Amino acid sequence: MDPGKITAATVRADFNDLAAVLHYTRAAHDLGLWASERALIERFFPDHHAPLLEAGCGAGRVTLGLWALGYRHLTAFDFAEELVDQARSLALERRAGAIRFFHADATDLRHARLVDPPLPAQGEPDAFHVFREEAFGGALFMFNGLMQIPGRGNRRAALGELHRMCRPGAPLLFTTHDRDSSPTERALWRLETRRWIRGEQDPRLVEFGDRYFTDEAGRTFMHLPDRREVLEDLVATGWNHAFDAMRAEVAREHHAVREFSDECRFWAATRGLTVAPENVTP
Ligand SMILES: C[S@@+](CC[C@H](N)C(=O)[O-])C[C@H]1O[C@@H](n2cnc3c(N)ncnc32)[C@H](O)[C@@H]1O
Repeated sequence: MDPGKITAATVRADFNDLAAVLHYTRAAHDLGLWASERALIERFFPDHHAPLLEAGCGAGRVTLGLWALGYRHLTAFDFAEELVDQARSLALERRAGAIRFFHADATDLRHARLVDPPLPAQGEPDAFHVFREEAFGGALFMFNGLMQIPGRGNRRAALGELHRMCRPGAPLLFTTHDRDSSPTERALWRLETRRWIRGEQDPRLVEFGDRYFTDEAGRTFMHLPDRREVLEDLVATGWNHAFDAMRAEVAREHHAVREFSDECRFWAATRGLTVAPENVTP
């Protein structure tokens, strides 16, 4: 039987699954920001008053970390409702009720829905007013969330949406894996290349570079790019590359962080002035 390709619906269901909800909720409560995240946030987001948009906020690990660092104009969203509900509860527990949480798919922010909406009479801005073009002074898509979107065109759509939401010059910070980061990785990907040439890859995968595996966080889809791919995607969606480095080059992490997450590459970019629409689709 054809198992079918992994889609956004697969990924969303996996993140709404109990194993993932427990994993990311624990991290939001107990782990907080990694040393590397904190260093780069402080470097690329110097303005604590700027309205910031966090994509793929999960259970709020980074959102609440930003709040603790003193950022006060925070909007966060995720398409996994169970995770955003956890983030919202944690924000209330930590007296950070001013953070606005939305259910939204990063590839199309026109359908964002406010979590736990207050009565209209209270005047809380709705999605239509929050997700305005150029409304944000910066955006983040941390811990590889962007690479959990199947299909390069969809990842570019997400970068395009963040571009649409940010002001010219605004910073974007995100992470990815890197297929070329070590000799072991390169050897594994040479084997995977041969599987694709023979047509013996996991039939659920969408593109070369994809992985679909099960670990303590449940089922996980992840696209592992090489550096060139990410640089091309930034150019195609109107982001100017500002910085990239492997996490180990940025900070030495506590073993709890290394247990929670593999090595990754950090990327920072700034929002350029325009996007050429014909460039968005690869
Ligand atoms: C690895 S988790 C990271 C969660 C959180 N940022 C953290 O660091 O703990 C990636 C997150 O991206 C979200 N995500 C993936 N694709 C998404 C999409 N298309 N739209 C919105 N959220 C998405 C997932 O639901 C998940 O919560």
